[in-house]
Amino acid sequence: MALSVEMKVLIIFFSILLLHVPAMVYAQDDQSGFISIDCGSPQGSSYTENATGINYVSDDGFIDAGVRHDIFNWSERVYNTLRSFPENKRNCYTLKLPKGKNNRYLIRAKFYYGDSRGQPPQFDLYIGADFWATIDILDPAKYIFQEMIHLASSDYIYVCLVNTGQGDPFITSLELRLLDATMYKDGSPLSLVRLHRVDFGTSEIVRYEDDKYDRLWLQPDKQALYRSIQTPRTVSLKPFSEEQVPLKVMSTAITPVNSTYIYYNYQWSETTSVDFMVYIHLAEVEILESNQKREFSIYNNDRWIGTVSPSTNITTIKTYVSSNSPIANRLILNRTLNSTLPPILNALEIYTLKQLQQYQTDDQDATAIWSTKSAYGLKKINWQGDPCVPKEFVWVGLNCDYSFPRAARIISLNLSSRGLSGEIATALANLTMIESLDLSNNNLTGNVPNFLARLANLRIVNLTGNNFTRPLPAELITKSNKGSIWLSIEESSCEDKTHKSSWMHIMVVILAPIIGCIVVLSIVVFIVKQHKRKALIKTEEVITPTKQQFSYSELVGITNNFQNEIGRGGFGRVFHGYVGDDQVAVKMLSGSSSQGYREFQAEVKFLMKNHHPNITSLVGYCDDNNHKGIIYEFMANGSLGKHLFDGSPTVLSWERRSQIGCDVAEGLAYLHHGCRPPIVHRDVKPSNVLLNEGFDAKLADFGLSRAFATDDATHITSLKVAGTLGYLDPEYHTTGRLTEKSDVYSFGVLLLELITSRRVLSEGVNIVHWVKSQVEAGHVETIIDSRLDGRFDINTAVKVVETAFACVSPKSKKRPTMNDVVMDLKHYLQAEKTCQSESMSLLNLKL
Ligand SMILES: *[C@@H]1O[C@H](CO)[C@@H](O)[C@H](O)[C@H]1NC(C)=O
Ligand SMILES: *[C@@H]1O[C@H](CO)[C@@H](O)[C@H](O)[C@H]1NC(C)=O
Ligand SMILES: *[C@@H]1O[C@H](CO)[C@@H](O)[C@H](O)[C@H]1NC(C)=O
Ligand SMILES: *[C@@H]1O[C@H](CO)[C@@H](O)[C@H](O)[C@H]1NC(C)=O
Repeated sequence: MALSVEMKVLIIFFSILLLHVPAMVYAQDDQSGFISIDCGSPQGSSYTENATGINYVSDDGFIDAGVRHDIFNWSERVYNTLRSFPENKRNCYTLKLPKGKNNRYLIRAKFYYGDSRGQPPQFDLYIGADFWATIDILDPAKYIFQEMIHLASSDYIYVCLVNTGQGDPFITSLELRLLDATMYKDGSPLSLVRLHRVDFGTSEIVRYEDDKYDRLWLQPDKQALYRSIQTPRTVSLKPFSEEQVPLKVMSTAITPVNSTYIYYNYQWSETTSVDFMVYIHLAEVEILESNQKREFSIYNNDRWIGTVSPSTNITTIKTYVSSNSPIANRLILNRTLNSTLPPILNALEIYTLKQLQQYQTDDQDATAIWSTKSAYGLKKINWQGDPCVPKEFVWVGLNCDYSFPRAARIISLNLSSRGLSGEIATALANLTMIESLDLSNNNLTGNVPNFLARLANLRIVNLTGNNFTRPLPAELITKSNKGSIWLSIEESSCEDKTHKSSWMHIMVVILAPIIGCIVVLSIVVFIVKQHKRKALIKTEEVITPTKQQFSYSELVGITNNFQNEIGRGGFGRVFHGYVGDDQVAVKMLSGSSSQGYREFQAEVKFLMKNHHPNITSLVGYCDDNNHKGIIYEFMANGSLGKHLFDGSPTVLSWERRSQIGCDVAEGLAYLHHGCRPPIVHRDVKPSNVLLNEGFDAKLADFGLSRAFATDDATHITSLKVAGTLGYLDPEYHTTGRLTEKSDVYSFGVLLLELITSRRVLSEGVNIVHWVKSQVEAGHVETIIDSRLDGRFDINTAVKVVETAFACVSPKSKKRPTMNDVVMDLKHYLQAEKTCQSESMSLLNLKL
């Protein structure tokens, strides 16, 4: 031992002498793939541990929370301090990986409590959102450690300590080691959790620098059955092992004293079934006579794994063990009949295999938000661990979208009233999916950066209550005036440059509603004249809703014994009737299928609760034993489908089509964004859109609609795929993940039908493909219903087609939300009405 230390000193001395500075640089480079954290050591401290040569740093750059404690009773400095966590249920260290993702790392957390500090706590250790181990300190005078090898799928690793109500969690050191690509790839993509790593035939712990990856090689308990053997100086082993087992580990071994076999027992504390990876490292350490032979067979749980005759080339026998009796597993190395010598065993590693979800925040988002955190020195806010994952620990002020398959994305950031100063952090430019940014009521100064206008998804920006320099970026003002960003910032008192655009804005803001009102009033006057009596009844109905349960005999009265059938659907037949003076439609549930009844209930429940001008309204329902029916307001013009396609008695004008598109969009936007929890209609199509006598469109048929059960569920997966062919979101069809965006897809198809009057599937061609091929061939005008005879505004038409295309994007992420669609369509409609109102041609309301 003393000799080897002398040797090391000598070697280092000569290196310095010969190579001078480069040798020092090289020595540091050796640890370039390491992160070595001495938890709880004084802030900013760093040192080289004498015993190991490892360079430790204090943990203050890796965590904000917790309190440091001094222990003072170990020789190695790293054991003299710890950090404990009296606050927060969960506290996390953030490790930015030295070589990033797609590399394999060894992560080791050590815990030394000290024996003079009372009862040690028990707590859980997590890696990101994945449970790693329960830390249970049986003997506080000894350190314990947990070690895991895993292939990182993200640039960050979060090691978290979770309080389970059994004392404050603590940690002594945290170490991360970059491994070589050849090492431990067998269990991949599963992670390896160390169970045993044993160096036989020695009494010394081997780690760095003998092991350049700083694995800890421990000794087994002393066993009288075996004796230690060691390579003589003349033998040199050849490092052939992929696992790069250190020569120092391989140069010692054990062999049985009297018997013909080596026996090694291993177990797992839990009783569920476990998968193990076993690595048996072998090399001949003795010089054999010509008449000697060493050969042995290896068995795991009585299963033969192989027969070997070790040489001086290091070999590793790897075996995968799936054990349903994790408490009794045994490895036996047994001499063969050919062999003159007993078996040997140099080293052994046993890991349990663990499946980590490794679902984290997108790397770019994570880097952006960590930079923002440090730019503003945000320490009090308890932003710890992964920003988005797990959901129950999402950072305060953040909202994330978990529907992305590889990583969660940040979609909103709220740092309102956080005392921020300085400029808007440039890192925010990398939050590319962000939709809403609230920086109001801080002390931010400087220019408002132009990147806010470039963030494609950003819709809401609140900058009020700061002291920004003017003028604001022109691009941002343009977007704000167009309504594609909702920008909130106080008017500047001394503003010159943006005067014109503000004036324009005022023109738009003031004139548009006036023009809109004139148009609406004209329509209202027209409708009132035509249908005065009914309009008045409707007003009353709004004031005193008469939704209620009806008996079957009442239904008979209402429908005059079901005389006037006005429709028929999968659900049943629909009859015309009167409740008082009010016309109604009564839909009767036919048959007694439980599916039908479920849809009936869903529809009634939904309509009882939800009222919107673009949702059909419920007058009442009947739930007698044998007769189920729903009474709706009467929609004089029937379904949109009836008016749209070939053979329809009337041709809907372009303006009317735009308005219908807008109405349907508003109905859906209400379901998606106005309802808590949001509701997915699931069956948006022209036959489920009804038109009243004024051609106001209302969504109908909520039998398939589903509400998201809880606020944090972002999609529904367990449902049977339902809906109508052609309108069905292809992504929902393949993944079964239902979101609001599935309705957006169906709406896009409906919009295309509205423009073209072509059915979704016509001559076997899907409308989406047909329109795309026409547009690609440059025939935009020809896709529009030829019966319109060119009476439409081509510019608006192109924009509506663009919106429809966005809605039918194969990737749901690329589709706009219904709120966006409403905003766009209203914008086009407004522009159209502005031109139209000049000639008042809208009053020529031909059907
Ligand atoms: C390392 O050794 C030097 C010299 O023996 C000693 O002064 C120093 O305190 C030691 N450092 C640690 C961290 O033990
Ligand atoms: C090995 O065998 C010898 C002779 O039979 C016996 O004296 C000794 O105790 C045995 N050693 C062990 C470890 O069993
Ligand atoms: C941001 O948070 C503040 C206070 O918590 C809240 O009043 C405000 O509405 C939030 N902003 C957004 C855009 O949600
Ligand atoms: C912007 O923030 C201020 C202050 O928090 C708040 O009063 C205002 O309503 C917000 N504006 C919007 C559009 O949310």
